[in-house]
Amino acid sequence: MSKTYKIAVIPGDGTGPEVIAEGIKVLNAVSDKAGFKLDLNYFDFGGERYLKTGEVLPDNAIEELKKHKAIYLGAIGHPDVKPGVLEKGILLRLRFELDQYINLRPVKLYPGIDCPLKGKGPEDIDFVVVRENTEGLYAGAGGVLKKGTPDEVAIQESINTRKGVERCIRYAFDLCRRRNKEKKLTLCGKTNVLTFAFDLWERTFYEVAKEYKDIKADYAHVDAITMWFVKNPEWFDVIVTDNMFGDIITDLGAMIQGGMGIAAGGNINPEGVSMFEPIGGSAPKYTGMNIINPLASISAAGLMLESIGEEKSGKAIEEAVMYVTGNKIKGLAAGKMGYSTNEIGDLVIENLKGI
Ligand code: IPM
Ligand code: MN
Repeated sequence: MSKTYKIAVIPGDGTGPEVIAEGIKVLNAVSDKAGFKLDLNYFDFGGERYLKTGEVLPDNAIEELKKHKAIYLGAIGHPDVKPGVLEKGILLRLRFELDQYINLRPVKLYPGIDCPLKGKGPEDIDFVVVRENTEGLYAGAGGVLKKGTPDEVAIQESINTRKGVERCIRYAFDLCRRRNKEKKLTLCGKTNVLTFAFDLWERTFYEVAKEYKDIKADYAHVDAITMWFVKNPEWFDVIVTDNMFGDIITDLGAMIQGGMGIAAGGNINPEGVSMFEPIGGSAPKYTGMNIINPLASISAAGLMLESIGEEKSGKAIEEAVMYVTGNKIKGLAAGKMGYSTNEIGDLVIENLKGI
């Protein structure tokens, strides 16, 4: 009997549903070829639902999502909803409550894609950022005093637990070993200023490193990392960092791999339910025009298959995407691809090999 995976699909807002539709099309084609089944359950979480019902997530949402093998997410963000409501109420809540403690963001320049860095090509840009995804400044610790007065005090604390830091660092070492590329793991921190939080990170990092003698343990300050992403991206293999720094450096990473049209990521709970998403936003102005680039969403589907144990199928998606960027597409920006959203999905399907 063939394997069946229960997948929760949250198309979300704006162009989310369009790019997810292409991802699902590709997933169905891959699963047919590879001989496994996907049992897809759709959830309507997002801005539209919130505006209609006043509810960001229903009470049973987390329990329902937990019944799935993985979650495939489009985009959350609606122009008529105050910034923060949906991001915190849906995206961050799912990350936290499903304990998706890793945010995995591959930064890889595919063939045929214009890189904004002069003289750099696909051989120079291929690394992965492992971002801690449940702690740090995102934990929401802190408070305000005397709000709206000249004496106002605002405190936003970064929470770093030994357990949270260690499990993230261990994941990064394991990933670096599995990748088997440069076998170099760089801790991205700020030990010269954030002497409490990054002291914990640094001590944990070098302690765990003793168990991974085959991996070179390397350190760089976050400000220097932003410089090197631009100047010497080829120096990096796997980078591990906290939630806030990871958020910032992965946007820079997305830019050097060609932009938000191609960047995909996973919110991973290695022992639980993980969630995969294109990391660009909901791009509301392009909604319904069939011009948005679905490649990031299709790549996120590939990452999802790799994570649920269908590595070969996940790789086949990545290779088909690379074929399309290298041989077909004119550009990555919405409306500038030389193809419609649907046609890009078809092109990826036509070029699936090896499954
Ligand atoms: C990301 C996003 C989110 C974050 C926002 C939308 C809350 O920027 O996934 O990187 O800050 O983590
Ligand atoms: Mn971000």
